[in-house]
Amino acid sequence: GRFVLVSGPRRCGKSDAALAGFMQFAARGFSGVDFALVTKTQAQMDGVMVPKVRAWAGRNGLEVQARDKRLTLPDIHGGTNTFWQVIGADGVEAAAKRIQGFGIGGAYVDEFTRVPPTLVEMILTSMLEYASSKFVATCNPEGPEHWAKLDYFDKVDDGTLNGETHKLEMADNPILSAESIAEMAAGLTGPFYRRMILGEWAASSGLVHPVVKYAPLPKDALVHRYEVALDFGRSSVTHAVLVAYHRNSWTVVDEWVHDGRTSGQMAVTEQTERIFAWATAAGSRSVAAWAVPPDAHGLAEGIAELAGGSVVKAVDNVIWGVQALNSRLESRLTVDPRCEHLRRELAAYRWDERAGARGDDRPDKTSAGGAHGSDALRYWAATAHAAVTGRRP
Ligand SMILES: Nc1ncnc2c1ncn2[C@@H]1O[C@H](COP(=O)(O)OP(=O)(O)OP(=O)(O)O)[C@@H](O)[C@H]1O
Ligand SMILES: [Mg+2]
Repeated sequence: GRFVLVSGPRRCGKSDAALAGFMQFAARGFSGVDFALVTKTQAQMDGVMVPKVRAWAGRNGLEVQARDKRLTLPDIHGGTNTFWQVIGADGVEAAAKRIQGFGIGGAYVDEFTRVPPTLVEMILTSMLEYASSKFVATCNPEGPEHWAKLDYFDKVDDGTLNGETHKLEMADNPILSAESIAEMAAGLTGPFYRRMILGEWAASSGLVHPVVKYAPLPKDALVHRYEVALDFGRSSVTHAVLVAYHRNSWTVVDEWVHDGRTSGQMAVTEQTERIFAWATAAGSRSVAAWAVPPDAHGLAEGIAELAGGSVVKAVDNVIWGVQALNSRLESRLTVDPRCEHLRRELAAYRWDERAGARGDDRPDKTSAGGAHGSDALRYWAATAHAAVTGRRP
């Protein structure tokens, strides 16, 4: 069949298995023919796809010629085939310049769900010239109504499209240890756990932060440092949270909220001064780090002036931040129940289920009154996670 579509959780061996099958198919069936190797980003191409092609060639004693974003490999008939690198993020036009105009014998698409569907259509059109062409694709599952599932996986399964689908599991990869699986699962809640660990097409639904533990700072706690993160609204809601680090745990000890729509407008300079006075208990304690929204320039400058150089632009990536926060909420982060606004938000904050079904993971901010406190705490967690791991979204 024309389609070989593989879905499965993280690191189950999808890319290795599919690529090996694809390269063998090309080397056996074709000579002097062009193919496409597709990833979402150039980094993925250079970091994952090309090394995997080289490893496969090495195992088979074949020499790879690489030049100008294409790879040439020998086939079994004594000739060579050419594999063109196509980057989904560069858009369909850029891809068309590379592969449209000549027919291709097939394509291997890694992280299939992340490339534009129009690019997939263009590739399939370029394959029509060869009756025996093959379209091989791998991905982690997304929401159950994602186009990749509805238009490709489901259609192969019901026979509308000719081919086969495979669902791999972590157990299919013999080198994955229980520890590394546990490490990958840490902080993955709800739909993300079902997709990335179980390999299911799962909608994002339910609470954004399903686990929250409420406890005040213990009476005898020795606080090593305080940190503040905030969400800022010039004329709407500013919500700041104060986080205390004690004995390997974190507690959100207090919050500061101002809603300009109900409590009157407050100038940025006044907000800055009030937040600073609140967080430092009028100058009697020091705050080691401030995470402010990337676009709140005036506020960031004001706080930097008052506090010194410890103001950082918060890492603002919702999905990444939600996971960083959830992994802390599950283990070492508690919330003082006195933080009433934050508590109310965390208890109500839900995924937008219609968007989630399409694979578009989006928290529904209106479910939590704008979710300003949760956003502030997410900024804190994402920024701390980036600082500790050295990774960014
Ligand atoms: N059957 C196998 N035997 C030994 N090692 C394997 C096997 N399958 C995969 N691996 C190795 O396990 C790692 C993960 O494999 P691979 O990159 O194919 O997984 P993946 O499912 O594509 O992961 P991701 O979700 O990160 O894209 C790689 O280092 C790969 O070489
Ligand atoms: Mg992969």
